[in-house]
Amino acid sequence: MPDPSKNSQDGFPDNSVITGASSGIGRAIAIEMARRGAKRLLIHYCSNQTGAEQTAAAVKNLGAEALLCQADLSTSDDRKHLVETAFSELFTIDAWVNNAGVDVLTGDAASFGFEEKLQRLVAVDLLGTISLSRLVVDHWLSQADCKAMSSMIFIGWDQATRGMEGEAGEMFGPVKAAVMAYAKNLAQSVAPKIRVNTVAPGWIRTAWGSEVGGYWDRRAKQQSLMGRWGTPEDVAKAVVFLSSRESSFVTGQVIEVNGGWNRRYEREDGG
Ligand SMILES: NC(=O)c1ccc[n+]([C@@H]2O[C@H](COP(=O)([O-])OP(=O)(O)OC[C@H]3O[C@@H](n4cnc5c(N)ncnc54)[C@H](OP(=O)(O)O)[C@@H]3O)[C@@H](O)[C@H]2O)c1
Repeated sequence: MPDPSKNSQDGFPDNSVITGASSGIGRAIAIEMARRGAKRLLIHYCSNQTGAEQTAAAVKNLGAEALLCQADLSTSDDRKHLVETAFSELFTIDAWVNNAGVDVLTGDAASFGFEEKLQRLVAVDLLGTISLSRLVVDHWLSQADCKAMSSMIFIGWDQATRGMEGEAGEMFGPVKAAVMAYAKNLAQSVAPKIRVNTVAPGWIRTAWGSEVGGYWDRRAKQQSLMGRWGTPEDVAKAVVFLSSRESSFVTGQVIEVNGGWNRRYEREDGG
């Protein structure tokens, strides 16, 4: 069993859990954590076992131990299974990253109607994430040796509170805004033992971003002051900062990783 009093020398978390780490941003977070010297990482996935194994292989190549756990976060039994597995396998968990989220923009789900997409987002990204994080916090607070500060990080969306036109904005906006609000409230409940922060990505080139060209490609670049799409690695670096003791005086915050919002952006359709 790992020694609970042992932490990496530079304050970087030894043991972390990343939900939704079988692809995209979650995978980049796991890899960045391993690159920074993490010792043991729990790679959570839902249906993409091959992707999770690829993440685990990349993490192991960087010298960290990788554990896999499958769980559908829309079901209560699976959430309990994930939390129990994480705490029994890792024992001490320094950072927990709530990254998992339903992809309703690509694949089969892209053809669903608005309500079905919204229901899935609510079930996984919102209710699943909130219920899961409550279980994690209960475990953390019940651990007799909960002396060290733990860090929980949520993934929001930069346009959730800013507002974006169209169905994507009307679906992701309320769901991610609620996640970000929950994180702020949770931070008030669990300080000073647990720090809670949100990373709110902007236009990040993952599955959907890789498929689009034309208007959306131009828009993603022009809405960022940096003039480019964000990468999963850009997001991962902010998550890693919030998970480490370098950010020990940071809680209840939202860090937007969007290259800076370009106020001079003008929509091509004049909207
Ligand atoms: N990409 C962007 O531009 C962007 C912008 C703002 C916020 N975000 C947020 O960032 C997070 C990661 O996004 P991404 O672009 O990296 O997406 P992604 O590549 O589709 O990854 C999503 C992850 O969530 C998992 N997941 C999906 N449904 C699940 C369920 N029912 N139960 C448990 N896990 C489930 C997936 O697991 P399986 O594949 O194994 O099923 C996958 O590991 C999401 O919360 C997303 O909303 C993304």
